[in-house]
Amino acid sequence: MSGTTRKILVTSALPYANGSIHMGHLVEYLQTDIWVRFQKLRGHKCTYVCASDAHGTPVMIKARELGISPEDLTERISAEFVRDFAAFGVDFDNFHTTHSPENEALVIEIFEALQKVGDIYTRTIEQAYDEKEGMFLPDRFVRGTCPRCDSEDQYGDACEVCGATYSPADLIDPVSVLSGTIPVKRDSEHYFFRLSKYEKRLKAWLASARLEKSVLAKLEEWFDAGLRDWDISRDAPYFGFQIPGTDNKYFYVWLDAPVGYLASFKHLCDRRDDLDFDEYWRPGHDTEVYHFIGKDIMYFHTLFWPAVLEGAGFRTPGSVFAHGFLTVNGQKMSKSRGTFIKARTYLDNLNPSYLRYYYAAKLGPTTEDIDLNLDDFIARVNSDLIGKLVNIASRCAGFISKNFDGKLAPSLHDNALFGQVAGASGSIAEHYEKREYSKAMRMIMAFADEANRYIDDKKPWIMIKDEKTTADVQAVCTQGLNLFRSLMIYLAPVLPAVADDARAFLGERSWHWSDAETPLLGTSINKFKPLLTRVEAKQVSRMVEQSKEDANPGTGEQSVD
Ligand code: MSP
Ligand code: ZN
Repeated sequence: MSGTTRKILVTSALPYANGSIHMGHLVEYLQTDIWVRFQKLRGHKCTYVCASDAHGTPVMIKARELGISPEDLTERISAEFVRDFAAFGVDFDNFHTTHSPENEALVIEIFEALQKVGDIYTRTIEQAYDEKEGMFLPDRFVRGTCPRCDSEDQYGDACEVCGATYSPADLIDPVSVLSGTIPVKRDSEHYFFRLSKYEKRLKAWLASARLEKSVLAKLEEWFDAGLRDWDISRDAPYFGFQIPGTDNKYFYVWLDAPVGYLASFKHLCDRRDDLDFDEYWRPGHDTEVYHFIGKDIMYFHTLFWPAVLEGAGFRTPGSVFAHGFLTVNGQKMSKSRGTFIKARTYLDNLNPSYLRYYYAAKLGPTTEDIDLNLDDFIARVNSDLIGKLVNIASRCAGFISKNFDGKLAPSLHDNALFGQVAGASGSIAEHYEKREYSKAMRMIMAFADEANRYIDDKKPWIMIKDEKTTADVQAVCTQGLNLFRSLMIYLAPVLPAVADDARAFLGERSWHWSDAETPLLGTSINKFKPLLTRVEAKQVSRMVEQSKEDANPGTGEQSVD
């Protein structure tokens, strides 16, 4: 390994604990997991934490519908998250929940620190109130006719038809989603965070955070519109943490959710001697912190969050990496089309390695949306993973086992060709580092093509029949297997399960990124077992069918309040 060991803390956004993980979420968790595994393979100390986002009105309402407590609901759903993520190979160092004592203590600490510097104040605001349910209504819980285009049944904050944004008070004929009654206006005192005071410091932060172009463009828009102070409280009944000194006010879920990053890390530090909370979260240390998020939650992560951290005396994130949204077959995921595919439904039908590879082959560092085209998925996986990658090993392994007692030759047959693959280590690593996964995959698959051309050219199956060339077959197949091995090391962040099997087949205990640069020679390998099988179209269509059956309203819906 070259250079010094970096200490990196990485997070993915905390999934709401009111629905199941689906293909869209997985873009993020797989993108992050690949980056983390890459850093670890390079020898860096990289820690990956996440949690379920437990609080807020939707979780509270969902629990009520199910007749269980919100605590029970979040526990149940968190357990499901952990299971699904593990099955996809998403390897968190810790998966916690925002409804935890660590989080409560940290939120209160942050709130009090902000109070001390004068950045919290109260103001009375008017809000929609459901008299029948006895509660204030988040914007999304009021529906009515759009004041601009007259479309019926629109949300209280924005019209899906014409794109207008407004407040629930502007809706024509508003109704509460909860009771169907007409909401009234009611006053309530709320706590605000003085975001407006942070413009200068946020600009300094974003200059250092090396944000991607499309993220910067969004931020500029927001700065131009002017930063407005942020309402961080909600009235009871609310599932969340109570604000100290009040008896019916709670912290808004979006205040305690990002604090959940700290809390999950704290929970891990408490169990690990080698991790120090302050080293990662107080200013002045040589550590790196990165948040992977979707483009829909940029405002929270690039404005509120750094400002809150700054104001409360914590360090700010090194950067925020935002990805785009997933479409399936070119369209928004849809329950009726069977393209709202849950992680679990996928797992019931298909190998997770396929999806890890497909997403990697499509992902770049920008907020551009990515499309899961199911026909392309089948074609791509079969052609690249089976036809190119695994094929190299399956064409060479048999000869080594049968004719050379399972032993690799003491030297390569074509050092120059191996040198090309080894020499690409730096550029492939740079692609991973910059989240240019699609570029990395393209380079790796181009080498896989070359390896196959090499074998086509040498034809070991013919060489073996001719006494004069039999002995060379060992070197040729050792060559092929070494090309396969180096490519497999490069792919290990994307395909950890396949890489593990390949490593075991090659008889090696562990891999480091730099192992791709030196060939494996003269050692014994194990019997080859197929590493992956082809995707069949019927597996995919069955998954789509099952996703249609899954389509009961209210599951997996995501809401922001
Ligand atoms: N709970 C908040 C995040 C709080 S972070 C302090 C949330 N949860 S979510 O479950 O709705 O989404 C979790 C992550 O998955 C977000 O980064 C979101 O952008 C991402 N995705 C959810 N649906 C997605 C797609 N369809 N496509 C790509 N990413 C998507 O937001
Ligand atoms: Zn409208």
